Amino acid sequence: MDTSNAHPPSNTGRVGILLSGRGSNFEAIYRKSTEEAANFKIVTVISNKRKARGLERARELGIPAYHIAPRKYENRENYESAIVDILNEHQCRLVCLAGYMRLVGERLLQDFPNRIMNIHPALLPAFPGLDAQKQALEYGVKVSGCTVHFVDGGMDTGPIILQTPVPIEEGDDEESLSQRILTQEHRLYSKAISLFFNNKLKIQGRRVIILE
Ligand code: GRF
Repeated sequence: MDTSNAHPPSNTGRVGILLSGRGSNFEAIYRKSTEEAANFKIVTVISNKRKARGLERARELGIPAYHIAPRKYENRENYESAIVDILNEHQCRLVCLAGYMRLVGERLLQDFPNRIMNIHPALLPAFPGLDAQKQALEYGVKVSGCTVHFVDGGMDTGPIILQTPVPIEEGDDEESLSQRILTQEHRLYSKAISLFFNNKLKIQGRRVIILE
């Protein structure tokens, strides 16, 4: 039987993506989700930025895509409630931040406890926040990399799931380093999502145990 075009089974892990820009991590996760062995699929993409390239790309791919403008809501709680409603409507089990340029608040954290992931372009806890690759270069480290972690209320502070090191090369600038880290980000994020839906991630305090 040719199953190449078959829909994923209905118990496939349902992922909602939050993004603010380009969306290359979203696309990498999407590509992985279309492989036959994938145990997850992206069921919705939400952005706080109307013109986010990732949002446009989601529409091209036929994924339900929404722009939720923070300024239309009285406060963060109401803004996040609108997001939670969409995530629930699409029965998301996991939320993946992929270049989502806002801190996550109580509302999202409460509705998706230990079910929100983020990717960061440095080896946390080094260089959290913006311009992580630039921070790494300016500090002079010899190795940087990327981190997938569960999200808590802080800035890039939640329990670490997976990390990949990326050595700094002589002559690296922000662009060249960012590009090499990004290549690794694209591999790492899907790996973490897959582990999550295989029930292989167990959080113990700050540590995420990866079960055999
Ligand atoms: C990535 O470097 C990610 O680690 C960081 O924001 C960037 C998003 O890039 N959180 P993209 O929108 O996925 O291309």
